[in-house]
Amino acid sequence: MSEQKKRKIAVCHGPKCGAQFAEEITREMEMAFGQRPDVEVTKCGCLSSCSLANNIMIDDQVIISRNTPRNAVANIEKALAGDIYGAGGGVEVDPFNLEDDKFLGI
Ligand code: FES
Repeated sequence: MSEQKKRKIAVCHGPKCGAQFAEEITREMEMAFGQRPDVEVTKCGCLSSCSLANNIMIDDQVIISRNTPRNAVANIEKALAGDIYGAGGGVEVDPFNLEDDKFLGI
């Protein structure tokens, strides 16, 4: 039996993200995904995208930006489903509209 590769959700706890919602977002991630056997929720250091905080890295490859405790779970559900990157297409956002409750993937 082959072991399924886990999806990795790494919540940035660098200086900027940590000063904003990192703890709250980590709690939201653990509540939403922590029981799933195919997902690992971790913390990480600065992802060098501080101006787009709060940031979350998926599978050590993709950064999902502008997360808040309110939108982070929905953003990451979309990212894990491939709705942002690759064959799943994406969601358009205005990166300069801070009221946009979607997300910016970079
Ligand atoms: S502190 Fe999170 S990207 Fe720099």
